[in-house]
Amino acid sequence: MREEANISYEDKIDYAFEYIHQLYDQPLQFGIILGTGLGQLINNIEIKLEIPYEEIPFFPISTVESHKGKLIVGQLSGKSVVAMQGRFHYYEGYSMKEVTFPVRVMKKLGIQYLFVSNAAGGLNPEYEIGDLMIINDHIDLFPENPLRGKNLNQYGVRFPDMSEPYDLSLVEKGLQIAKDNKLKIHQGVYAAVQGPNLETKAEYKYLRTIGGDAIGMSTIPEVIVARHMEVPVFAISAITDLCYPGKIKKVKLEEVLAGAAKAEPGMSLIIRELVREINN
Ligand code: HPA
Repeated sequence: MREEANISYEDKIDYAFEYIHQLYDQPLQFGIILGTGLGQLINNIEIKLEIPYEEIPFFPISTVESHKGKLIVGQLSGKSVVAMQGRFHYYEGYSMKEVTFPVRVMKKLGIQYLFVSNAAGGLNPEYEIGDLMIINDHIDLFPENPLRGKNLNQYGVRFPDMSEPYDLSLVEKGLQIAKDNKLKIHQGVYAAVQGPNLETKAEYKYLRTIGGDAIGMSTIPEVIVARHMEVPVFAISAITDLCYPGKIKKVKLEEVLAGAAKAEPGMSLIIRELVREINN
């Protein structure tokens, strides 16, 4: 985030919002954040506007290693959406306030739902590479919380409830869409760590023991901030590698991308159909 003095976080959100709003002033109903290797959904969007992140005031600046991302505004299944092509990960060095800044801006743009995808390791021994898991709960193992510090009272309360972070009616709808389309589907608990290293065998065992079905390095910060603003969330993991005894091997990025590519068509279908079904 650019280091201008004397500009509050809330004002930075407002500046970013104003910039996007003057380029496109229609309300946007759905926010979408696409995970590693899961960007194909963009091909289903009738694109009206693309804004590189670096053009948006106060948007986090991409690190050298990370891909240059952009915000995509358009129509998906007849609804207006704003999608992030490329997200900010904590392991890249961003603060949690930076990681979740776009979610605040999307809320200002009018989103009534947030959809999130990610690539994750499978801790549940029933999972296979390329499977999809609709997230029905999470375990936050990040060392920092995006809501730490002064509460942004205009966005939400100091102690937001987290008893149902993932909207259960959306989980049910997602499961039904998968069933109707004969897609293999799971629902389960997503645990997230800061990364960037993968986990040890003992850590995988621990993560399974505490109740995780999948493990990744993203999503939870954005979900916490969305829930702070009472935005309903639907999130889904592509299982890209297996993390239970007998199946653990060295994880290569190419294999994660191959697993994501296998899961991607089903994931896009579920998101497209859910967006179509939700009436607002
Ligand atoms: N661990 C953590 N994050 C991941 C993994 C994993 O096994 N696979 C994809 N993202």
